[in-house]
Order: sequence, then C-alpha cells, then structure tokens
Amino acid sequence: MSEGVQTSPAFTPRVFSGIQPSGDLHLGNYLGALKRFADAQNQGIQSIYCMVDQHAITVWQDPVKLARATRELAAGFIASGIDPNKSILFNQSQVAEHAQLAWIFNCVARMGWMKRMTQFKDKAGKNAENASLGLFGYPALMAADILIYHATHVPVGEDQKQHIELTRDIAAKFNHDYGIEFFPMTEPVIEGAATRVMSLRDGSKKMSKSDPSDASRINMTDDADTIASKIRKAKTDPDALPSEAEGLKDRPEARNLVNIYAALSDMSVSEVLAENGGQQFSAFKPRLSELAVTKLAPISTEMARLMTQPDEIDAILRHGAAQAREIAAPILQKTYDIVGMVR
Ligand code: TYM
Repeated sequence: MSEGVQTSPAFTPRVFSGIQPSGDLHLGNYLGALKRFADAQNQGIQSIYCMVDQHAITVWQDPVKLARATRELAAGFIASGIDPNKSILFNQSQVAEHAQLAWIFNCVARMGWMKRMTQFKDKAGKNAENASLGLFGYPALMAADILIYHATHVPVGEDQKQHIELTRDIAAKFNHDYGIEFFPMTEPVIEGAATRVMSLRDGSKKMSKSDPSDASRINMTDDADTIASKIRKAKTDPDALPSEAEGLKDRPEARNLVNIYAALSDMSVSEVLAENGGQQFSAFKPRLSELAVTKLAPISTEMARLMTQPDEIDAILRHGAAQAREIAAPILQKTYDIVGMVR
C-alpha cells in the first residue's frame, strides 16, 4: 500500500478484497486486482480475499457454472501469487456473517444512496423494476464484506470507487446512529497504471466480462496465439508512440496499451515511453504481446493444473472460511450487542 494512505490508529491495517465468480477472469481483473492483491500480501499486511458468490447471484447464474467459476477463480487467485498459507482465501457463502451484517446495513443505508450507484444503473439498465432486490442492495453486502473484518484498505479497480465510498458512508452512519466509533473508515487503494484497463476494441469502454466481443478482452485462459492475435488486432491510431505521457492525452487506445505494458512490466508509463517513444504500433504491439504471453502463460498453465484438483481447491476454501469466521464472528457479535440484540 502507498505510504500516503492514512488509517485511524485504532485499527490494525488489514486488507480485504473480493471478485465475483461470474465468468472468465480477464486482464483487467488481473492488473486492477489480482496482481495488486499479491503485492499487498507480499508486503506482509494481513490480507483476506473472497470469491463473492452471493454477489454473483444478484443476476442469474447457472448453478453448475457458478460452482465451476468459483473454483476457477480460486485457481486464478492462487496462480496469481495469492498463497493460502499467507492470505485468507475463501468463498463468501461459507461465512454467514457477511449476510448477517449485510442485513443490519440494509437497515442503515438509505434507498437514495443505492439508487445513485452507477453499477446498479448499468446492470439494471432500463428495466430496473425487474432487477432483483439483491442487485439493488448489492453495495450493502459489499460494505458488510469489508467491515465484518474491520478492513482498513481495499485494493480495487477504479470502477469500484463509488462502492467503497458508500461503504464509508454506511460505516459513518452506523457509528453516528449508535454513538460509537466501531467501524473504520476504509480506504480504497486504487493505484498503478492499470486501475482501469480499457477494451481492446474501444478505448472509451472498460474491459469487461460482459462485453459481447471476445476480442475486446484478454482472458486469463487465452493461449499465446489468441493473446497475440487480440493484441495485433487491437484498435490504435496511425501515429507513433510519444516520448512523454502528456502525448497520450486524447489518444485513449494508445494510452491503454501503454498502461497495460507498464503494469505488466512493473514500469512507470514514463519509463515505457522513454524506451518506446517514436515507435510505430507495428513495432510496439509485438513487444507487448511477448510481454503479455510471458507474464500470463504461467498463470493460465497453473490455473489449468489446479483445476484438475477440485477437491484440493475446496479444502483450501473451507480452511480459509474457518479462518475468516474467527475474525468475523466476534465483530458480528459486538455489532449485535451495539444494536441491542439479546443473546
Ligand atoms: P468484479 O468482480 O467486477 O471485479 C473484480 C476486480 O477487478 C477490477 N476490475 C478492473 N480493474 C481494472 N480494469 C478493468 N477493466 C477492470 N474490470 C474489473 C474491479 O475493480 C475489482 O477490483 N463489487 C465487486 C466485488 C466485491 C468487492 C467486495 C470488492 C464484492 N465485495 C468487497 C472489494 C471489496 C465487483 O463486482 O468486482
């Protein structure tokens, strides 16, 4: 985490983040989330990572596919460097405290707050009346995911910023309503060159699993040829790369490819441009492909290997859930005491 991030001294630094098991993992999830989760873990901060299966079912999921996607996501976490012996790794539905705290937060959060959430507006579309109640209340469950651990830092991509702000609003209202500083003001951690990886076909759209065009994204399960072909066909402009970041202004597709290169190579955008400025895309794209394949191929190979051992994945998730409950249960109990629930 960056040194600039401040936390209330009353709370021990603790990282939490989650990913929905609702389809293929893509490069945006890797660079915006997974890679950075591994970095947080390796800095020695207690880290808790969750496959949010209860969030996934806010829109219809085929049960067989959901189970497979949960295991595949677990494999993606592990293959990206999350070590279940260092971090707590589990799926949300195994720790009932998330849903239990979410109910309390349903009673703290206001309808108007939920209505303003852009993710709800995007996902519900024009037919909001027909969206599930779960999709509407999604951010209250997300706040519970984070606050049931008193997590102080949440590494996420840019698209989740509004949800983390809402988490802070819920914590602040709870603390205010009950007159106690119980929940921390969690900090979103949105850092690095790839906090918003864009579609390879349209630099104004986020790379997303719901984009109908598979060519718009690099999936973590794509093989080397597919990755190379998608990068070769990625939309660009006719100009050469600039030598300074300023020159990427108003060039969204060029900026996206440079950001991806920077994030994959752990270089800054300035360093990438110092090395590649003046080059045409016909020269830069093969370099980017080679870098992407070198970084991603070992991950997809490891994911495929792990997927041959589903029982081991399940055992890891059960163990992680038990560890998570040890932290969550006393926080839920204290919340119930604060609210006045008799035990
Ligand atoms: P989800 O499952 O959509 O995405 C998982 C993570 O990947 C990031 N991400 C991206 N980052 C950069 N560029 C992109 N194109 C891109 N697409 C996705 C997301 O920002 C996220 O970090 N609501 C969350 C899941 C969640 C959660 C939580 C997250 C539930 N509870 C508690 C943090 C803490 C979601 O739908 O992420």
